[in-house]
Amino acid sequence: MSKLVVNTYNKKSRIDKNIYGNFSEHLGRCIYNGVYVGEDSPIPNDKGMRRDVVAALRDMKLPVLRWPGGCFADEYHWRDGIGPKESRKKMINTHWGGVTEDNSFGTHEFLELCRQIGCEPYITANLGSGTVQEMSEWIEYMNFGGVSPMAALREQNGQKEPWCVKYIGIGNENWGCGGSMTAEYYANEYRRYQTYCRNYPGAPLFKIACGPSGGDYRWTEVLMREAGRMMNGLALHYYTVPGDWGHKGSATVFDEKEWYVTLMKTLEMDKLIKGHSAIMDRYDPRKRVALVVDEWGTWYDVEPGTNPGFLYQQNTMRDALVAGINLNIFNKHSDRVKMANIAQLINVLQAVILTDGEKMLLTPTYHVFKMYAPHQNATLLDSFIQQEYIGVEENVKVPDLHESVSEDEEGNITITVCNLSCTDSKDVDTILVGAKASSVDAEILTNKMDAFNTFESPENVKPAQFDGVKITEEGLSFTLPACSVARITVKK
Ligand code: AHR
Repeated sequence: MSKLVVNTYNKKSRIDKNIYGNFSEHLGRCIYNGVYVGEDSPIPNDKGMRRDVVAALRDMKLPVLRWPGGCFADEYHWRDGIGPKESRKKMINTHWGGVTEDNSFGTHEFLELCRQIGCEPYITANLGSGTVQEMSEWIEYMNFGGVSPMAALREQNGQKEPWCVKYIGIGNENWGCGGSMTAEYYANEYRRYQTYCRNYPGAPLFKIACGPSGGDYRWTEVLMREAGRMMNGLALHYYTVPGDWGHKGSATVFDEKEWYVTLMKTLEMDKLIKGHSAIMDRYDPRKRVALVVDEWGTWYDVEPGTNPGFLYQQNTMRDALVAGINLNIFNKHSDRVKMANIAQLINVLQAVILTDGEKMLLTPTYHVFKMYAPHQNATLLDSFIQQEYIGVEENVKVPDLHESVSEDEEGNITITVCNLSCTDSKDVDTILVGAKASSVDAEILTNKMDAFNTFESPENVKPAQFDGVKITEEGLSFTLPACSVARITVKK
């Protein structure tokens, strides 16, 4: 029996809803066929956006969506994606499969998508191959409501009112695909570009600098030292890759050892956030600058027979655990982590949705995002779970249980807890300090470790009501099945 202790007297940081964000790139079938099918498509759509996808994302309470990349962002020239579609430039998507990009999905379409979903847009602008003027004019185009050349151009293209986009990324992975820059060089470029990203009336920007890859602490040090006071956020990218970059591993065919390796590598996220936060704390003790984990998730070998440049992968219960663990970690670091964006929204990497023509399915990862939604904007509560280290090899061990807990404005307490064992159920005895449960509402996602949804069987993995939660004198008691993610909401 493991003890879970929730101290309701110790209220911690607010969990920013944007931790539950997603990332969408012009990559494979994420934008085209994924969210956007065009107005003439037989697939039901509103202004070209798939109705089924938009409805699912609204239901998941998607708070923020990053676009247009990724590596694509530092080669994207926004003017190619505005104006009459027939005259938009056709170009090669050099990063992703060398396919033709016809620019039919551009600024207006992305902001319309966000409007339909009801989420905030987060736009990553081109520092790697674009100019300062180009970036500055994009912001003027999106955010200025007065008289100016870019405001006039926007109106000419059918949008009178400015969109007032808040979140702007100044380049992406500029240490790699975004220009192969050193930290010092990028820090100077960041300072220059951000100077011309203007705050127009009613549209103050939240500027996000390109941050480190994984454990590159030097990048964080240089960026915070040279440019920390000129940014609102610093990005962090970390992917869970079970193998190595040459052979990442299959999304669906894996053994118990690979299960534990994947979860062990996922848990690295906690160490990375602690390491980068410690550096940020030295330059920014008041935590004004957010750590924005704007790319995270699993990265496997592509599904056999699919275009290697499209990064299409299936999504199993293992991905559900990866999502549950990462989201618990972000919740627990919500004093510093203010946004996170899983890669990527649809049909790419650890997607929440997969599509095939007119068919759509929700992945196990989608279900975790939806189950965790009550944490959005709630207050993190102090919690501790007794853990036992498990695994099939001495050097590959993970804790059996992983949790986070929050309290919403009405005083409801939400516990999300993962059982990382792929074989054993776990009994959990919960002590609620300072609260007495009067009723409980709970759901659970569980199945075999490699179970996934297919277009033929789209509901193979889906959450069920979790009836096994009992109210006790001290709090709650329940048994978590092997390989499960649970959400338990307690009313006082
Ligand atoms: O998400 C896929 C790619 O991974 C992104 O384009 C890039 O930023 C990262 O390397």
